[in-house]
Amino acid sequence: MCGIIGYVGGADKAVEVILDGLTKLEYRGYDSAGIAIIENGKLFVEKKSGRLENLKSVIRTDKESHLGIGHTRWATHGVPTDVNAHPHVSFNNKVAVVHNGIIENYATIKEQLRAEGVCFTSDTDTEVIAHLYAKLFDGDPVTTMVALKKKMRGTYALGIVNSDDPERIVCARKEGPLIIGLGEDKNFIASDVPAILKYTRDVIFLDDDEIAVIEKDKVSVYDAEGRLIEKESKKIEWDMDQASKAGYPHFMLKEIEEEPAVVEKTLGIYVNPKGDVDFGETFGKIDFEKIEQIDIVACGTAYYAGLQGEYFLKKNAGLKTAVEIASEFRYSDPFVDQKHLVIFISQSGETLDSIMALKTAREKGAKTLAIANVLGSTITREADMALYTLAGPEISVASTKAYTAQVTMLYLLSLYVGLRRKAITKAQYDQRLDKIYVLSEYIGNVFFQKEKIKALAAEIREKEHAFYIGRGIDEKIAREGALKMKEISYVHAESFPGGELKHGTIALIEQGTPVVVIATQKDMVEKMLSNAKEVKARGAFVIVLTKKACKELEEVADRMIYIDDIDDMLAPLLAVTPMQLLAYYTACAKGLDVDKPRNLAKSVTVE
Ligand code: M6R
Repeated sequence: MCGIIGYVGGADKAVEVILDGLTKLEYRGYDSAGIAIIENGKLFVEKKSGRLENLKSVIRTDKESHLGIGHTRWATHGVPTDVNAHPHVSFNNKVAVVHNGIIENYATIKEQLRAEGVCFTSDTDTEVIAHLYAKLFDGDPVTTMVALKKKMRGTYALGIVNSDDPERIVCARKEGPLIIGLGEDKNFIASDVPAILKYTRDVIFLDDDEIAVIEKDKVSVYDAEGRLIEKESKKIEWDMDQASKAGYPHFMLKEIEEEPAVVEKTLGIYVNPKGDVDFGETFGKIDFEKIEQIDIVACGTAYYAGLQGEYFLKKNAGLKTAVEIASEFRYSDPFVDQKHLVIFISQSGETLDSIMALKTAREKGAKTLAIANVLGSTITREADMALYTLAGPEISVASTKAYTAQVTMLYLLSLYVGLRRKAITKAQYDQRLDKIYVLSEYIGNVFFQKEKIKALAAEIREKEHAFYIGRGIDEKIAREGALKMKEISYVHAESFPGGELKHGTIALIEQGTPVVVIATQKDMVEKMLSNAKEVKARGAFVIVLTKKACKELEEVADRMIYIDDIDDMLAPLLAVTPMQLLAYYTACAKGLDVDKPRNLAKSVTVE
């Protein structure tokens, strides 16, 4: 979702640094981009709808400026046009604002400003901020920002430049991600680390309601009332190589192929040399025998990982587990209290729906655990406890290796909790833990079928609809498989429990409609065979995903995809990879922008 970059430095390189930062932010998803710099004491703004290339083609990189802000916009209020793109500029042409979030009371503020004679040029909520800041400016960016914050309701990460205050950027955050990069004779603001990693590894994570003033050689952070506060910086350990395509045509393929390494890394870090799951001090305060229920809350792919986690926790830890979609959690009058452990799963750690759900769970007294991939992300700072998934930077909008890391982590967690609750014996624990060691090799074996999956993708690329069916945990993989297909290949794909299709949706099956039948659970194979026959009889093009040991389904399949004979409980971790590849190759076959699918954002920072 919207990306922010800001630079204050000694050298006149603002345009170059900002455009570079915007390039690194592209993966977040956007539909327009813009830049504002101070040039010879005056504000200069350029913005364009569409790809960043459009902006790059009209802006001169040799423009001299030591300070500026840039933005990639993911439209919420107002269609993606040049005018609605950020930065937004104040009535007096002095203040420019970039914003990620939504100002909920913008209409009221707009009315008031209009009554005072301010003319608006855009349809956005953000424009009110520029006019308000210019009206409130009293020579001090901190007191001005304090006053501005008091007038706004909603969510925001903000960066503001002002030609009347030309040596500083002022920024503020409320439930929107914003970091400060500390350089030598230069400092930065950004929505996330990749935008500034080329220049610095030292980062301050701004917390909710904090304000910061960024100068060339100084960064000052304030609380909501404008009192100076101390903030520690953190060192970013990963580097840009991990965030580059490394010869792959797309990040998505690279990230899928990193899955074996991600599993190994997770096991290497969270299983100690004695062969025990080891989360260090993370659960110091928790007595798992006193926990009555685990709730898992997440969005999208992370939610589907949570559904696999539910299965593991029930099986391995004997714990009542419920999984909820984060955006619905607050409205479902959640019954959580101090006897509940609520787990929030998020690749980015910045998904606003998950953050808001976390706040609700915390208010109700539940213990909260974040499972996130991005170091220092908001969710990890807001939760009582945090575990990192160690998948490395995931750039493609479609989440792949993060899912594998999340599910692997949930499997380890279920064993860890199960042993502490005495739901499983030490022998069962050892045996179940042992079984996961084949996983990375088996995922690697899936890649031998890449050509076959690619050929299959070419066969289904023209299809309008596809259905995915499975039973038990296979139904959860079906959901993830269908989501991948939808989001990057724009084929309308839906998933159903195997037995459910005939209660309505089977009416949509026509000659050649692809139906992906997932049957990795031994005791479900017969039932799935029947379901496959039902759709086959109505003309479906049946694609079966099963284990090598389950040949029975060959009789009904038009195409077969096999995975190795892994333990049933671990099959979801293996079966997801071919589903990801099928979606990937379908999108490629359609010539689509795989890593940056239309309308989507990598990290969804508005509710
Ligand atoms: O960063 P998060 O894991 O919290 O993101 C959650 C979803 O937005 C994300 O998984 C989304 O569904 C992906 N695009 C799926 O590939």
